[in-house]
Amino acid sequence: MNNKTLAILKPDCLKRNLTGKVIDFILNKGFTIKAMKQLHLTEPEAERFYAVHKGKDFYDELIEYMSSGPCIPMVLEKENAVETFREIIGTTDPKEAAENTLRRLYAKTTQRNTVHGSDSDENAQKEIAFFFPL
Ligand code: CMP
Repeated sequence: MNNKTLAILKPDCLKRNLTGKVIDFILNKGFTIKAMKQLHLTEPEAERFYAVHKGKDFYDELIEYMSSGPCIPMVLEKENAVETFREIIGTTDPKEAAENTLRRLYAKTTQRNTVHGSDSDENAQKEIAFFFPL
């Protein structure tokens, strides 16, 4: 089992000045930040990161949104990181997310859902390599 996951504080998180609150929440849940940077994805970069969603009805809007402003990818470490982080961010649709999850607390819509978390150990490795190549 891998102990690392990739999180992204998405453009709406930065635009709404939620970065400090979200990082505080993550640290309070016992995650360690192993790497972190701020960048502004170009459309081609967002297309590469979200290639798995190409063809879905929300894809074009997703690319536009993720390249609309800066975001903060980070590598998080904790035992069972992928699963535990997905628990604390909540479901994709913030209206369905459990209470006291990041998306329930802060996200406005399914698309602009404030935070990303890898959905498997395999994808975590790929996503970490995307933002933090060795
Ligand atoms: P995330 O799970 O981080 O990665 C895929 C993203 O696509 C997801 O967050 C949302 O931002 C977006 N997404 C997924 N499903 C939908 C949907 N049904 N409608 C709009 N956006 C979606």
